[in-house]
Amino acid sequence: MRRILLFILPILIIVAAVFTIFGILQVRFTEENFMDDLKRKTKAVAESMELSVRYALSNNDLRLVNRLVEKFQTRERLQGCVIYDRDGKILAITEKFSDWKQKDKPYLKDILTTKNPRGALEKFQDYSIYSYTLPVLDDEGNVAGLVEVMYDTSYKFTILTELWQRISITLIVLIVLVAIISLLVQRQIFILPVTRLTEWFQHFQKGEIDEQHPISKKGELGKLASEVEQVALSLRVARRTVSDEAAARLHKTETWTEAKLRDLIHAKLGDNAFFVVSNREPYMHVLDESTNMIKCIRPASGVVTAIHPILAACGGTWIAHGGGNADKQFVNSKDKLGLPPENNQYILKRVWLSKEEEQGYYYGFSNEGLWPLCHNTHTRPIFRETDWQIYKEVNQKFAQSVLEELPKKTPFIFIQDYHFTLLPKMIKDKRPDAIVALFWHIPWPTSESFSVCPYQKEILSGMLGCDLIGFHVQSHCNNFLDTANRLLESRVDTEKFSVVRFGKETFIRSFPISIDYVQGKNLKTDFEQINKLKKEFKLEGKIVALGVDRIDYTKGIAERMLAIDRFLEKYPQYKNNFVFVQIGAPSRTHIKRYHDLIAEIDELVDKVNWKHREGEWKPIVYLKRHFAPEEITPYYALADICIVSSLHDGMNLVAKEYIANKSNLPGVLILSRFTGAARELNDAISINPYSIEEFANSIKSAIEMPIEEKKRRMENMCNIVAENNVYRWAGSIVTELTALKKI
Ligand code: G6P
Repeated sequence: MRRILLFILPILIIVAAVFTIFGILQVRFTEENFMDDLKRKTKAVAESMELSVRYALSNNDLRLVNRLVEKFQTRERLQGCVIYDRDGKILAITEKFSDWKQKDKPYLKDILTTKNPRGALEKFQDYSIYSYTLPVLDDEGNVAGLVEVMYDTSYKFTILTELWQRISITLIVLIVLVAIISLLVQRQIFILPVTRLTEWFQHFQKGEIDEQHPISKKGELGKLASEVEQVALSLRVARRTVSDEAAARLHKTETWTEAKLRDLIHAKLGDNAFFVVSNREPYMHVLDESTNMIKCIRPASGVVTAIHPILAACGGTWIAHGGGNADKQFVNSKDKLGLPPENNQYILKRVWLSKEEEQGYYYGFSNEGLWPLCHNTHTRPIFRETDWQIYKEVNQKFAQSVLEELPKKTPFIFIQDYHFTLLPKMIKDKRPDAIVALFWHIPWPTSESFSVCPYQKEILSGMLGCDLIGFHVQSHCNNFLDTANRLLESRVDTEKFSVVRFGKETFIRSFPISIDYVQGKNLKTDFEQINKLKKEFKLEGKIVALGVDRIDYTKGIAERMLAIDRFLEKYPQYKNNFVFVQIGAPSRTHIKRYHDLIAEIDELVDKVNWKHREGEWKPIVYLKRHFAPEEITPYYALADICIVSSLHDGMNLVAKEYIANKSNLPGVLILSRFTGAARELNDAISINPYSIEEFANSIKSAIEMPIEEKKRRMENMCNIVAENNVYRWAGSIVTELTALKKI
């Protein structure tokens, strides 16, 4: 009620004020008109009598004088006339005004002397009288007498009172009408939509409806509705996260091993064939031009690190781009080979791409477009129409390659990453019975960021060909749901956490990826190799920090070098005592940004080493080449500190590998809070890599941390990595999918 009053009251006050001012002006105007009229009338009457009075006075005809004043006696309102002689003495007076005789009339003297007529308001009994006195002159111009005509003005008040009454009634009617109309308008445009929105919100919250609010596209209130919708969505998301976390805690007690995953996949998928699709292949055959020998290498890729143990445990077919320059020499007539080479556990099918295809699809659209689009690192995404066309063609090529392999019985196709956003729909269109899941290994941006992509609709619609889309962390799922909700005509079911489009439902879930690590499986520590490395890089007796990355602008490598520089500046006591080893695998080098980054890091390393070097000691050892996984293991083992300083990262498996390799050795992990891993690894030293000062201090804290605390923290993180290993990750995806699809 108070709010309604607040809304209506100002309107009423304004209406009343305007109307009152208008009323006052109207009354004034009427009053002035009335007085002008009266003056004119009184003067006219006096002048009309002038001749008769002059005649009567010159003839001393008192009877005529009396007749003249008596004419006023019969007039309806109070009107009268007095005729005076040349001395101002009353000769005759209308009877109604007989008391006028007693009235003191000082003005008569003036008129007799000046011979000017006079009109003025006078008091008579309780009346206000307008009197007009006209001197009557004889032929010589001398005053022969006076005529005074009097009119009562009091009926003016009656007229004005009536006018005021009419104005007041109109004002009251107006106020009532304005109040009613305002109430109706405010009910129609405000109360009703808000009530409906509230009801919708209550039902939506209870999960009784999933439709968008009908007013969410209209006007200002529509914007509010849309915001409310987002809040409702977030609340559901938060609820879901809480319940998912609780469910996850319940299941945490069991340990996942490759055997368990194998059993699960056989139990759940039975004879259904299992296919993995990724751009990067797990093994590449490359010709080493310096030795002219062909090497089989394991590429630096989180996807490969995670998927390989799963296929090794469960078997299946992996379809990937044959990117090695000697790959063709190692496949059969169907472009396939058994892997791992020494002990074939699964099949790799290589898809061949021309140079143009690799340029447009991989370097161009995937890595110059989607990669920077999804990472918050302030590198501008580049979208070229030609790249997009080739990206579509390559997705089609992979679809063809996958479809050729699919058996009759419901196959399960597990697609990896942003290189294949269109593939799920392409497969589903041809094989609706296939179960298709996509795992997005990088972050998913906010809907605002994603909306700059010119091909947003095709990409989302391609992805929604999936039955399930997985992300590392819940916030990426939330961003994706929000993106689908805002940018695509689709229905988001926040209770089930799915997107429905054209009757097809895609479930969105978070599964934090991990590595092949099981508690108690002590990774072999090759002390001989460790000692060799220490000698080679003069690390004996030194505090060693380590970084292992693909050389990518998302990894924060330059920020790391700046932090080391600052650390040595601030704490020079560590000069000669501290060495940072950076393993950097050159990556995507045909892209200018990556090419420039390599030069930028070279220059920085050189600068920092030059600035701080003393004798034989230099602070940074930079090993810029591809390393096989087993080559990196001894570095993890010897490192006192591992630094992961990504500016934005879906998960980051280096952090988890360091922990796994440190299981029974003390070590400290410095971890950027912008990695997915930071959500799980709370015992790491958390940093903001953009804050060089904080970063430099964290290196000191890592060095000076008491050994007991180092051990305790490492043990906690080790338990987490062992519990949430890659077998649990794959197991959860398969379990979720089979439960959702009821297979
Ligand atoms: C990220 C992506 C992977 C990719 C890897 C290496 O981890 O999520 O899909 O394989 O980077 O990048 P590259 O372009 O060398 O395969």
